Amino acid sequence: MRMVLLTLATLAAFAWAADGVLTRMTRAWFVRDVELRSELAVNGARQALVAHWQAKDTAGLVSVLEEITRDERIQGAAACADDGTTLASTSAYPSEFPCRLIAARLRAERAGASWSTTADLSSGPVHVNVTRLSDGSRALGTVVVVHDLSFAQRRADKTRTLLLAAFGILGGTFTLVTVLGARISWLSWTRELRRILRGHEHKPEYQPLMRDVRDLVQRLTAETDLEHGGGAWTPQRLKETLARNLHGERVVIVANREPYIHEHTDGGIIVRHPASGLVTALEPVMRACSGVWVAHGSGSADRETADAQGRVKVPPGEESYVVRRVWLSAEEGSGYYYGFSNEGLWPLCHLAHSRPLFRREDWDHYRAVNQRFADAVCEEVDADDPIILVQDYHFALAPKLIRERLPRATILTFWHIPWPGAERFGICPFREEIVEGLLGSSIVGFHTQQHCNNFLEAVDTYIESRIDRENNAVVQGGRSTLVRPYPISVEWPIHWLREVPPVPACRAQLRKELGLAPDALLGVGVDRLDYTKGIEERLLAVERLLEQEPALRGKFTFVQLSAPSRTRIRSYRDLASQVEAEAARINDRFAQGTWQPIRLMHTHHEPPEVFRALRAADVCYVSSLHDGMNLVAKEFVAARDDEQGVLVLSHFTGASRDLTEALIVNPYDLDEAAAALAAALRMPKDEQRERMRAMRALVSEFNVYRWAGRMLVDAARLRRKERFNGRLRSTQAGERTRAS
Ligand code: F6P
Repeated sequence: MRMVLLTLATLAAFAWAADGVLTRMTRAWFVRDVELRSELAVNGARQALVAHWQAKDTAGLVSVLEEITRDERIQGAAACADDGTTLASTSAYPSEFPCRLIAARLRAERAGASWSTTADLSSGPVHVNVTRLSDGSRALGTVVVVHDLSFAQRRADKTRTLLLAAFGILGGTFTLVTVLGARISWLSWTRELRRILRGHEHKPEYQPLMRDVRDLVQRLTAETDLEHGGGAWTPQRLKETLARNLHGERVVIVANREPYIHEHTDGGIIVRHPASGLVTALEPVMRACSGVWVAHGSGSADRETADAQGRVKVPPGEESYVVRRVWLSAEEGSGYYYGFSNEGLWPLCHLAHSRPLFRREDWDHYRAVNQRFADAVCEEVDADDPIILVQDYHFALAPKLIRERLPRATILTFWHIPWPGAERFGICPFREEIVEGLLGSSIVGFHTQQHCNNFLEAVDTYIESRIDRENNAVVQGGRSTLVRPYPISVEWPIHWLREVPPVPACRAQLRKELGLAPDALLGVGVDRLDYTKGIEERLLAVERLLEQEPALRGKFTFVQLSAPSRTRIRSYRDLASQVEAEAARINDRFAQGTWQPIRLMHTHHEPPEVFRALRAADVCYVSSLHDGMNLVAKEFVAARDDEQGVLVLSHFTGASRDLTEALIVNPYDLDEAAAALAAALRMPKDEQRERMRAMRALVSEFNVYRWAGRMLVDAARLRRKERFNGRLRSTQAGERTRAS
């Protein structure tokens, strides 16, 4: 195609140049022709002209001149004396060439001989030929013959049309021949390739070539899917990607937290949406892909809203996929979720100065629950090679357990929290089993390359395996596990925003509810009440801000929305009281009348309330001490369709790698954080817009559909490779049997 366009462009340039040259050449020929005709006409009448001139016979001169102009292309003729007098002229002689002009030019140029010129008159182009006349001994004057040149113009136009038509035909023929040629050679090439692949599939000497070709085709297909598959990533595009690459096979997700929790309340059963980054990201993906989400049924009304197998169709009113609830006893929940997951792995993986606790009985529950979930997954699949998405640190052992029952499954495991360095990870007494469990996956994904590197380092340090550094994969017993960074994101646009008023209304509502002036400055923080989120450091930064900027006292309020979380764990309960104590101290210090700098809202907030706060904020401060990604930062960006508001973001979040236009701070450095908050509150609207626009462009492009799409496309590629390798192995085994 590119070659055809290039050739057509060359032909067009050539036609354009040829047209110019040809027009000039044909005009020169015609002018020369006309010149000769004029000279011929005057020479033919020379004798008669001289005779009438000498006899001063004007009527005779006119009749000779009329005779000359009988040539239809000669417009007029005149006889001029050297002093500029017109002796005679024909009736149609153009007034633009009076004899005085001819004489003046003769004098100016001291021209003794004849000369000619061309001119464009309003009637059209003309050629003027001036011939000197003498009686043999003395000059008599000049004869002027004016030729109509418009015929030359007409001929030049006709020539140009013919020329362009010729180039057009040439170009068309060339394009046709090239396209046909390319098509025929592509067809014969692919036919030949297919023949080779089919005919020599089993010949060992062709196998490396075949593998390369297949890999190449798959890679190109996958890349086309990701980069050029049709603009923005939407649920529809994700669905199509799934259909194209994985033949629409249904997806089974296993995650501890369920997306819809049924709870008993005084007003009856309600549906709650948990405060969870994992749910925020995966729920839209499930709505797009359908399938089954296997999760812990933790709501007080979960059992009565599910069927006998624990299944319930969701989202309520839309019912596009199924949640399969797994019931856990109090001991199981306590050992697996509170114990090993959140008192062991959570502090192990986060650098937030909380000591991990590894109890043998918690570990036993963790193993048993992983087995229960793996069994539930196997009950939900509808093929022997399903696609299973294992989510988070609650299920490190599940990939291996599933693989034991479904060796051909494609298992994508995503670790939503950081993975620590090998030395730190090494303090876990069950480190080998955890890594082995994860290596049951086809792909293990993390938010950042750093976490991938840490994981590979742990594998290298604690496990017998080969690390394929070129492909970032771990090879064990002939099977590979790819280790890849997939920075998670949010849906775009966020469907909850349909239920939230526009920014000005959110600003006005929240300020009114808090008893603040309509123009009060507002900072917002939104988190689960977790010690990794740096909530105390956030409040201390607000305190430092008010110390350094007294003008903000009475004007700036920081609202902290904290969802209670893991409250059975002592460190979480302690955190809640520490945060409350800190807020009370700061409020006591700066309170003015009814104004208090910090407003704590320690309760669960449904997503529309969270988004209303994010829209109402002048500044959102995400101060995590360590965070895999932190989707609140991306939600803030997604909520701000007014392109205003400033994000102050901890350097220790995965999100800080993506949202580089935020004000990035070290949350431990209170001076730096306070200075960033002050800068945010002072930031001109234009700068806010510029930063917010850039971040919105990034989040909209790299949204959660793209995140899921990338993983699924990578899985599809791996799956094809494994199927092919499986076929190859069985063929080789067959050949060996035949040979023996
Ligand atoms: O954001 C990290 C994360 O562990 C998610 O993976 C999880 O869903 C979320 O925190 C909430 O935790 P929990 O489900 O224990 O309330």
